[in-house]
Amino acid sequence: MSTGTITTQKVNFKVFRFNADEDYLPYYEDYSMDVTSEEVVLDILNRIKWDHDGSFSYRRSCRHGICGACAIKVNGRSTLACKESMTTMIEYFGNDLTIEPLSTKRAVKDMIIDKGDFWEKHESVTPYLVTDIDEAPTCENLVLPHDAEKLNEADLCIQCGACHYACPAVEVNEDFFGPAAFAAAYRFESDVRDSDTDRLKAINEERQGVWDCVKCYECAEACPKDINPIEKITKLHQMTFTAGIAKSNVATRHAVGFLHSIKKHGLLDEGGLVLYSEGLGVVKHIPVALKMFKKGKIIMPWNMPKSDNLDEIQKLIKSSSTAKF
Ligand code: SF4
Ligand code: SF4
Ligand code: FES
Repeated sequence: MSTGTITTQKVNFKVFRFNADEDYLPYYEDYSMDVTSEEVVLDILNRIKWDHDGSFSYRRSCRHGICGACAIKVNGRSTLACKESMTTMIEYFGNDLTIEPLSTKRAVKDMIIDKGDFWEKHESVTPYLVTDIDEAPTCENLVLPHDAEKLNEADLCIQCGACHYACPAVEVNEDFFGPAAFAAAYRFESDVRDSDTDRLKAINEERQGVWDCVKCYECAEACPKDINPIEKITKLHQMTFTAGIAKSNVATRHAVGFLHSIKKHGLLDEGGLVLYSEGLGVVKHIPVALKMFKKGKIIMPWNMPKSDNLDEIQKLIKSSSTAKF
């Protein structure tokens, strides 16, 4: 049906329900509604509560995409309910939509989850400015526009948790700080006024730190504020190298091996890179390496060619590298 430019269509919702105080297992409730093109996902949550079941529970506060309370999943996609239009959801997924909390295993009541792990990890990266404050300043503490731009990239985070609960590394490794905590760490590490010395060390530790990110980009996909946490993680990698504190692990050796290969050949030596990164652990890659060799993807060290522009590449590396290995 169409009213002017406003369109209406029937949508079938399958909604996750669970009350930790009463239910042994979660279940799904079906609701069918006429949805207008003016509505956002939060309107649907409101209508479920107001028109169908007053016990249905979810978080929301600002309705303007700034408090981060209303993040849920629609058909498995992280969604800020007050920002995402129903028209977009229907375009993406059709007229059968499943509404779930960000993490079903952390559900407390319907869409409400226990975000305790999220906040603990947030706290672990010292998410505030550490600096000696002059209590009676005579002038403003100026930050140059160029420096402000760096931290602004991560300053818009609303702590919604969408990236954190979309991250597969968080799911399998309870120590891993997660993308939102790393974005917060980057926010303050890139602030020229900050003098903290522990934050970078914390994010450089094994299991909890940036080296355990598997670079799947789920966090970038999930973020409703375009923070792009994986990009911040990559910048934190670089910061640990620049500070000379990057620990030796497969990921850092991979970065160092990459540089060595480019310095030596001006080209990437795939086989040498795996050997450099994995050390003795390379044995487990032998079956794959043999297949790659047969297809000409791996070149033996003695046959490794050199780039025609090797001199220029070596000069570029020398002039641009800030890392201390
Ligand atoms: S890119 Fe890294 S931090 Fe982001 S979701 Fe994947 S594993 Fe998690
Ligand atoms: S980085 Fe984006 S998705 Fe993650 S908590 Fe912040 S705003 Fe939410
Ligand atoms: S209600 Fe605040 S971000 Fe949605």
